[in-house]
Order: sequence, then C-alpha cells, then structure tokens
Amino acid sequence: MSEAVGSVGAGRMVVDGRPMAYQAGDTVAVAVLRAGEHPHHGGTICLAGDCGNCVAQVDGVGWVRTCQRPCRPGLVMQRHPASGAPPLPVAGQSDVTSSPPARHIPVLRREAEVVVIGAGESGTAAAEAARREGKSVTVLEARDGLEAVAIYAGPTVIVRAPDGMLHINAGEVIVATGAAEIQPVCPGNALRGLVTARAAQQLHAAGVDLGVAVAIGTPPESVPCAPLSGRLVRIESEDEARVSAVVTVEDGEGERTTACDTVILGLGRAARDVLSRMTDEPSVSVVGPAAESFPLPPAPTAGTVCPCSRVQVDDLSS
Ligand code: FES
Repeated sequence: MSEAVGSVGAGRMVVDGRPMAYQAGDTVAVAVLRAGEHPHHGGTICLAGDCGNCVAQVDGVGWVRTCQRPCRPGLVMQRHPASGAPPLPVAGQSDVTSSPPARHIPVLRREAEVVVIGAGESGTAAAEAARREGKSVTVLEARDGLEAVAIYAGPTVIVRAPDGMLHINAGEVIVATGAAEIQPVCPGNALRGLVTARAAQQLHAAGVDLGVAVAIGTPPESVPCAPLSGRLVRIESEDEARVSAVVTVEDGEGERTTACDTVILGLGRAARDVLSRMTDEPSVSVVGPAAESFPLPPAPTAGTVCPCSRVQVDDLSS
C-alpha cells in the first residue's frame, strides 16, 4: 500500500457518464472529492490504499481503489451500486447466453535473490542493507505500479503490474509495508465527509476545500481545523448522506455535539501486516512499522464494519 500518486497534467475524465475536471497531480479519488463528491458512497477516506471506501469501476475493471489510480484524459469511472456487486458486462442484446471474451492477463515468472515489499523508510533501509551484503535486490512499490498482493509458498510473491501479473520466486522476502491509519467504527461512520489525518493533509495540499473541519484524536499538522477533546461517540447527518455534526464525550461529562462539514480522524495506526501473515516461511521477514505492535481501540459496539457490503457490527454478533 502507498500514498497516492497523481496525474501528470490537468484534464477531464468521465464519472458516472458526466465529464469531470481534474488537476495536475490528482488521483481519481482526489478529483472526485475536489468536485464535492465521494468516490464510493461514503465512509472514511484514507487516500493510502488501506480502506474500501474509494473503490469503483475504472475503465471497465471493478473494485479499483481510485485513490491509487492517477487521472488521465478520457478515463471512465463508474460508481458501484450502493450495496452489492457491480453488474457483470453483457455480451449483447441478441445473444444473452454468450459471455464476452475473457480479458487476457499475462503472467510473467521471475527469479529474485531478495524482494523488498515497500519503498518507504524501512523498505529503503532494508534494500540498502541487503545491497551492502552484495545481494541483488528487487523493490516492489505500489506507488510505482508494482503492488504485491500475496506471498505464497516458496516464497513466491504475487505482484499486480501495469501490464499483467508477476510471480516472483524469491530467495528472501522482506515485508516493509508500514502502518495504516485506524478507521473509526461507530454510528455514522459510513457517511461522506470523514477523512484520516494523513488524507486531510493530502487533500489540503491539493487545494481541496474541507469546509468547516474538526479533528478527533491527533490533528494533522498545517490543516485548518478545530481539535476536539474527548472520545468519538457518533457522527450525525441531516440528510443521511453527508456529515453535519460529530458527537464526542469526555469522562464524567455529557455528550457534546459540534457542527462541521468534515471530521478528521487521527486515531492512531495499525501494522499493515496482511502480507506477512500469509506465510510462516523463515525466508520471509518483516521490518519497520509493519512489524510493530500498536495499541488498538476498544472493540466497537455499533457502526459499519465493511463498507463494500455494508456489514454492521450487529451482523457479526448475530
Ligand atoms: S483505499 Fe482509497 S481512500 Fe482508502
């Protein structure tokens, strides 16, 4: 996972059949947010590839994380339905029994001495250390179009690349995927107008108007917002779509409601350790924040757990 990489220049794309302008440096998600819309239907935006709150169909491919896709002229984005999967493509009205030809996705197989997943601080340090030992190092970074999606026995690293899939048999794998910002699970967490602290910084730097913004937890540096003390209770909306207020509480005091357009959430981090948990091979190691243990928030009692399928906390206990 990575922070967003944007378009080369300004232009226009197509969103749900309508033209939409984007600026230089925009990802699809940032352009949609700049237009005052949400790339999905709601939920906290991280802009780092960690949540499912920006997925949409892009150029005919479903479930694309639009915060990781640079804009380009003529790109076509279609929002998924508010619940359920997007419809499958139909071959043609005259023959509804035939399927469209499957899209051919090439698979390339490679060998590598050392594969480092992640080109952040810890990944760069690990790659340099391996090179100093005279090893040949391959660095995979989603930001550069090489997204490691799985580690299988071998170890074999499965990589989504711009022109297909890569299967890399590695002598050694170092996972340096960093840490993700924690998303809130509480009533109202599927509304529009919620962003993580790092996403707020990116949006502010991109010139996106956040309106009246409040921050819960650690506020982002250099983003105009009003820090709120206390614990997040729920997020409220006047139209059941977008945030209109946030409710917090402090020990020994009653609830406090604060009107706002945007809630910025600095709730801490959690290790991005999905890849490292796929294998227990001794030749796979984890470094940096991906190997750290972070304090986790208390278990939620209400709210949306899975934004794609709208699974609620109550669904998990029933
Ligand atoms: S994964 Fe794109 S906004 Fe979180």
